[in-house]
Amino acid sequence: MIYAANFKTNHTRKSTAEYIASLSDKIATKNDEDKVYIFPPATALDSYVGDFTIGTQNAYPAQNGAFTGEIGLDQLEEFDIQTILIGHSERREHMAESQEKVAQKFAFFKEQNFEIIYCIGEPLHVREEGFDAVMDYLLAQFDGIDISYEKVIVAYEPIWAIGTGRSATVEEISSTHLALKKAINNKPLLYGGSAKPANIKEISAIDGVDGVLVGSASLDAESFSQMILS
Ligand code: 13P
Repeated sequence: MIYAANFKTNHTRKSTAEYIASLSDKIATKNDEDKVYIFPPATALDSYVGDFTIGTQNAYPAQNGAFTGEIGLDQLEEFDIQTILIGHSERREHMAESQEKVAQKFAFFKEQNFEIIYCIGEPLHVREEGFDAVMDYLLAQFDGIDISYEKVIVAYEPIWAIGTGRSATVEEISSTHLALKKAINNKPLLYGGSAKPANIKEISAIDGVDGVLVGSASLDAESFSQMILS
């Protein structure tokens, strides 16, 4: 299983370092085949050492340059960061990242040989229209994306389940993952949306779920480690 922690705009440089020290202790006994990723805010990127991979939540598709407020490859290379989240619904929504922009970013970081966790997910009104509408919506989020790229992991995160405490049901995750797995040629597929210690066993047992992308329940090292060790 893959366990990925997306801190979003939470934690500081200091608290991230404390978190990583604490998490490392707690997960010392984890299964070797389980992989842990941590996506801290950009200000907390650093050269941490341990049995986990540090990735960036975002970056501008450039080596460096005049892109006020963004970070580029220079800033990532400083800490040997080679993993990135692309297409998160919060960036699509709040930062108005269009499918075209997301695809450009994907192509750039693919060219750099980054590991890409590519996020897709539908809003509630689409889910309410039924399964076919959900699949149409999700598949459109692969426009311009080279899903054959060997270093891609897909994360399915229904927007209505993010930060709401209400995960998708086993049946919703199961049917969506089954269909997505076919569409993405069996690439690793994570579920995200209110994954937490209380539901991790149920979610990880679902066919087609290769891991979880966790927001709220990853912010506390104890809670995230409980998920990893479950
Ligand atoms: P929550 O776990 O807080 O629902 O967030 C999920 C998410 O968006 C991870 O990227």
